[in-house]
Amino acid sequence: MNNAIAGFSKLSKEEKINWIAKEYFSDPATATALIKNYWNSDAKLQQLHDEFIENTITNFYLPLGIAPNFIINEKYYTIPMVTEESSVVAAAAKSAKYWSTRGGFKATVLNTEKIGQVHFIYKGDEAKLKQFFTKNKQSFIEATDSLTANMKKRGGGIIGIELRDKTDVINNYYQLHATFETRDSMGANFINSCLEQFSKTLVTKAADYELFSEEEKDIRVVMSILSNYVPNCVVRAEVSCAIEALADKNIENPAEFAEKFLLAVKIAEVEPFRAVTHNKGIMNGIDAVVVATGNDFRAVEAGIHAYASRNGQYSSLSHAKIEDGIFTFRLEVPLALGTVGGLTTLHPLVKLALEMLEKPSAEELMQIVAVAGLAQNFAALRSLTTTGIQEGHMKMHLNNILNQFNATEEERMLIKKHFENHAVSHAAVVNFIEKLRQ
Ligand code: MEV
Repeated sequence: MNNAIAGFSKLSKEEKINWIAKEYFSDPATATALIKNYWNSDAKLQQLHDEFIENTITNFYLPLGIAPNFIINEKYYTIPMVTEESSVVAAAAKSAKYWSTRGGFKATVLNTEKIGQVHFIYKGDEAKLKQFFTKNKQSFIEATDSLTANMKKRGGGIIGIELRDKTDVINNYYQLHATFETRDSMGANFINSCLEQFSKTLVTKAADYELFSEEEKDIRVVMSILSNYVPNCVVRAEVSCAIEALADKNIENPAEFAEKFLLAVKIAEVEPFRAVTHNKGIMNGIDAVVVATGNDFRAVEAGIHAYASRNGQYSSLSHAKIEDGIFTFRLEVPLALGTVGGLTTLHPLVKLALEMLEKPSAEELMQIVAVAGLAQNFAALRSLTTTGIQEGHMKMHLNNILNQFNATEEERMLIKKHFENHAVSHAAVVNFIEKLRQ
């Protein structure tokens, strides 16, 4: 079947839906009804969402849950989380409550530097390029003055710019490597605008540089773009308490628990297959808050996984130790986040999420997000090293199975009662429903 179409973006929303319904669905009327069922009845709100992206036909829901009782640096937070995975919010809330009686979470922003690069090709004498750069360094900065004025007022701007010789990896390849402080904004637009200006300055100043030969004057910019790898924009989150204080109703032997927990972390530090899953659990917490607060989760994911491999092998983002009878569990992650700009004032639920967090600065949000990651990791390792995760997971997943079978209220009650003391598995639930319905 050839479903190619010309000029699709020019069609109205209604026409796009008609086309897709006719082309791909055996029952176009039902498909159209489903698509429209997810429209918001408030036409203005719907239009706002339609305009976030191109070719919008409807909305795709993800639940927004909240995890209360987080104490971070002695302040209480209720954390908004957007995720489709059952048990993520429950696990966060459980960790929050557990650590709230053990001193809470501590979080520290270690640094906040962002990075951007102009990648270019220069064919010529390297010493001359260095002289050219030193002579014109100030012009690069000055040419961005109109772009950086507002950011400077907020205490941010360009921190530095350097010339990097990359000819050992690609012939004639150099970079302008720049660092930025973007305060409460994630800074992508600001950084990219500055970089594109650097690139213009580079090309025009090189063409006029009398010491360059004709070939040397012909600098070719390949691209100018921020880096989502931000190893100097790092936040640390931590919990700690005396080993005996780890005890609770499911941790009867805290010393044994702590030892096994440390071993689980050590395995993730040295074994990449485990490290990926271990870090995935951390990302369950991090992404959920990043999405709820309108931040770019792809940038965060890419940057964090690069950071997890910074020593040449993919490894755990969290670490644990026992020293003088004190158990400490900590996480370090790079996070380029914003609490102004982007979706923060545009998406009504992002605004709501930020207000729920009492309008944090970007640094405070870095701390909250890192804590959500650590809490999630703690909950996962706690389950994995004690009961296993399936027990809790399947209990949470029970509702999904019941929804799949359109269970009635009465069936739900009976099934939930039965599985209070029976192991939940998909097959066992299906079996039980079928028996009930016979
Ligand atoms: C599931 O989404 C996340 C876990 O697999 C994380 C982990 O194994 O540490 C439970």
